[in-house]
Amino acid sequence: MKYLFFLFLLFLSNFGNAQSVQSPSGKIVLNFKLAANGQPLYAVSYKNKAVILESALGIKLKEKPALDANFEILTSKNSSFNESWKPVLGEQSSIENHYNELIVSLINKESKVKMNIIFRAFDEGVAFRYDFPKQADLNYFIIADEVTQFNLTENNKVFWIPGDFDSNEYEYNETKLSEIDNSKINMNNGIGVKSIPGKYMVQSPLMMKSPSGLYLNIFEAAVVNYPVMHLNVDVKNYKLTAQLVPNAIGDRAYLQTPCVSPWRTIMISNDARDVVGSKMILNLNEPSKIDDTSWIKPMKYIGIWWEMHVGKSTWDYAGSQNATNFADAPKASGKHGATTENTKRYIDFAAKNGFDGVLVEGWNVGWEDWNGNWKEEVFDFVTPYPDFDIAAISAYAKSKNVKMIMHHETSGSVANYERHLDRAFENMVKYDYPAVKTGYVGKIIPRGEFHDGQTMVNHFNFVAKRAADYKLMVNSHESSRPTGYGRTYPNYVAAEAARGTEFNAWSIGNPPMHETILPFTRLLGGPMDYTPGIFEIKMSYYDKNKTEQVHTTLAKQLALYVTMYSPIQMAADLLENYEKYPDAFQFIKDVAVDWDESKYLQAEPGDYLTIARKAKGKESWFLGAITDENARKTEIKLEFLTKGKKYKAIIYEDAKDADWKKNPIAYKIKTMIVTNKSKINLNLAAGGGTAISFEPIN
Ligand code: NOJ
Ligand code: CA
Repeated sequence: MKYLFFLFLLFLSNFGNAQSVQSPSGKIVLNFKLAANGQPLYAVSYKNKAVILESALGIKLKEKPALDANFEILTSKNSSFNESWKPVLGEQSSIENHYNELIVSLINKESKVKMNIIFRAFDEGVAFRYDFPKQADLNYFIIADEVTQFNLTENNKVFWIPGDFDSNEYEYNETKLSEIDNSKINMNNGIGVKSIPGKYMVQSPLMMKSPSGLYLNIFEAAVVNYPVMHLNVDVKNYKLTAQLVPNAIGDRAYLQTPCVSPWRTIMISNDARDVVGSKMILNLNEPSKIDDTSWIKPMKYIGIWWEMHVGKSTWDYAGSQNATNFADAPKASGKHGATTENTKRYIDFAAKNGFDGVLVEGWNVGWEDWNGNWKEEVFDFVTPYPDFDIAAISAYAKSKNVKMIMHHETSGSVANYERHLDRAFENMVKYDYPAVKTGYVGKIIPRGEFHDGQTMVNHFNFVAKRAADYKLMVNSHESSRPTGYGRTYPNYVAAEAARGTEFNAWSIGNPPMHETILPFTRLLGGPMDYTPGIFEIKMSYYDKNKTEQVHTTLAKQLALYVTMYSPIQMAADLLENYEKYPDAFQFIKDVAVDWDESKYLQAEPGDYLTIARKAKGKESWFLGAITDENARKTEIKLEFLTKGKKYKAIIYEDAKDADWKKNPIAYKIKTMIVTNKSKINLNLAAGGGTAISFEPIN
């Protein structure tokens, strides 16, 4: 206690004459000052307690003096901002953007370079960015490094994945900060297994909980024309430092004034629900650049997809992935998934069960040769296999009022994709596909670039922009993780950019706590195409020698439709598996994917999450509750329902003997009449969940 008090005094005295900005509630205070050597420093407190100790700010330039010292303050300006805006698709139909701002304008005494640092304090956190005005002394420049630090006060609990510049598809580790150790994890980041002892790298968003119960999250917003920020961890001193992803020759970013860096964000609250429900990342992005957004629509979809992951069919036509070239082996193997006939079966099922869309993977030539070959010209994104009659399929889908979702796997060959992009999008328009799922499996070509580098960030953003020109929606897989750019380009409806359901089909999979962490990390930057809805949970169903399984109960798969927000949401399992459990499938048919309101009822990262959401433009509500590997009993109050209305609640829950490992499918469905005064007891099995639909009856 004494020590903390001393720290606090030190904190106050150090920043006695500093510029500062506080959150509208006054709970969060950010102080700025220049050190004796002119280095910019900031510190943050929450309810008068230091949360970020004095931490360095600045940028190192290539071939120019660093912008991390020798500064003096030209001006500083405080202001306030408060507005509401309406996302095209979202977790709520109106978002409040309320913050106080401090802009500190600096000039470097030696180089005369001007740099502003813009700070914003929201109720759930703070953000800051570097702003480089147009000036004679700084026009075109290269960023060699960013010195931004986050100097933490305590040995927090941390949910971390290793700092791999090519992939975010990792399981989360839950350890103390001092125990972060990625030295045994083989990463693509130029350091790989050779991490310097004691110095480790993790990815952001980084979710933490302090020993005293404060929730902290470090992330970034509006990553545009800049590389992704990973975090170097000094495990002894609890200090995090920005690690910008380099390009093939080690440079971090090429910029030209006027320009800005992305926002560096720190969320702080003693209530985890404030973090999981925060719209701060979206708020820090530019408003929509698309004027007419009427063509951007939510979609619930099925697809020719899981059948390949479970080994029932193949993407390629000739049946020998990586072995032969399509041209040399044009004979059908008989296992090809994307046939005209199979696609029509999916379209029929979608029409019958009210799905908006059908995704088809493996429809185009190239899959014989796609993965691991580092070949530049694999796909042309327009040539279908001989057994996929794209014109007939498109006409059939239209006749059934079902939309087709195109798949563009680039196999990391980005230069090739950009060359073909306009023809690929024209082809989509021609056959009336409103959405594309893109994919970037493997190493990036041009060789030496990372998925998280500036070039690739620009590529992902460019694809969203160009897609908007064609009125197409984008759902990217293996992209860098979103940082709220979906506000600016609302047609960028979802991304994968984390470890999705597919891992359960062919690897050790995702542990039950995985889905209780993602909403605190990956989902803060935008919706995730997690592909829930697996009913046949054990892979031994497909092949008795297989031991893999989805680490879930069936009821939890239903709850994920509410807890894992995405306006383009898949029902991922095989059609025949849905036909076997029609009563449980009813929830997937009913659940909304676009919302007026969201209530975060219970939340603890790594442990559990309960969210209730109101369907956009309707009176119906849906609730999802999930737990990690521990069974959980809890009571929820239905205060969110409209006063005076009666609702029919259909509760889809784990059966008494359900267990993600021993008995995952066992579920029970019961119906109740409830009002906003009712309470419901939830009984979640180990690795389980509960899903509830509420339909008004008066
Ligand atoms: C990985 C994607 O995440 C998955 O959804 C897709 O089926 C495969 N790549 C093939 O493109
Ligand atoms: Ca846990």
